[in-house]
Amino acid sequence: MKRIAVMTSGGDAPGMNAAIRAVVRTAISKNIEVFGIRQAYSGLLAGDFERLTNREVSGILQRGGTILQTARNDEFKTPQGQRRGLRRLNEQGIEGLVVIGGDGSLRGALTLHKLGFPVVGIPGSIDNDIWGTNMSIGVDTALNTILDALDRLRDTASSHERAFLIEVMGRNCGYLALMGGILGGSEVMMLPEKDMELEEVAAALEDAYLRGKNHAIAVIAEGSKHKIYDVQKYLESHNVGFEVRVTILGHIQRGGSPTAFDRLLATRMGVRAVELLTEGVCGVMVGLDGREMSGVPLEDVTSKVRSVNPEYFHMAEVLSR
Ligand code: ADP
Ligand code: F6P
Repeated sequence: MKRIAVMTSGGDAPGMNAAIRAVVRTAISKNIEVFGIRQAYSGLLAGDFERLTNREVSGILQRGGTILQTARNDEFKTPQGQRRGLRRLNEQGIEGLVVIGGDGSLRGALTLHKLGFPVVGIPGSIDNDIWGTNMSIGVDTALNTILDALDRLRDTASSHERAFLIEVMGRNCGYLALMGGILGGSEVMMLPEKDMELEEVAAALEDAYLRGKNHAIAVIAEGSKHKIYDVQKYLESHNVGFEVRVTILGHIQRGGSPTAFDRLLATRMGVRAVELLTEGVCGVMVGLDGREMSGVPLEDVTSKVRSVNPEYFHMAEVLSR
């Protein structure tokens, strides 16, 4: 294998640059040329390839976002688009591809694998909804961003004796809300996997008020059944004791300098992805299995749903009282 390409796709995640850097430097150490594909599958279809050397990936380890940018592209979801993408790779003399992204991006990678093209995926998404890996790149950084926000909001909530409703990202996965709630010490967590009815939320916050707490925090996953403003409306019409305020964290959860954990995870995954390609192990995603890096079939990754560890549900129940 003498020439490979790398792309970042889907929602960006802190640590993607560390993974790009590891892919490039590992490949060059094996005398393999590396091309970056700008803007994910859109760039692939446009034939937007840019040679990457050690210089281009210098000084990016600590940077959030992705120097290759990312995009969402519907054409690549079609067989015609996939064939055009394959044609672009062959025109450029690319012999292997590393796709860094979420479950959708990895579905795209699987289509190239099924067309016979050597591809290895790296899980990059703050949602932590990708099956086959304990953690995806960006999750730890996003979780620390959430905890920083919760700690700040707790300060003002305590000053004013308020209840704060805080919406976090995660698409249809409640991992960030659950872990943010547990580690941020919230009284309530609302998750797609384990939703609470509005009456239960009101009862929990009123209980906190009656027990003399000077504030209360409810973390609400964006994919929850009840949306944050409906929860606010219900609470205000049922007088739980606290005044209620709402904060939607939004895209600050996607930015920031990657934590040490994410830098190490991304680096290890980038190195392993190139090793797998050169070993001829393709059609897999690099997954964190305990402390080890494994190669997990993309077929499995894209057909199974990563569930939240039930041990955490129990922990949340006990610790949120
Ligand atoms: P993420 O990778 O973060 O889950 P998306 O679900 O938006 O983000 O997917 C990113 C891109 O991956 C899409 O815009 C599309 O180009 C490609 N993609 C997603 N699903 C598929 C699919 N089933 N087949 C081919 N390409 C796909
Ligand atoms: O998949 C990552 C993610 O941040 C989700 O948590 C969120 O719902 C989505 O991307 C937001 O997408 P966009 O950046 O296109 O608004």
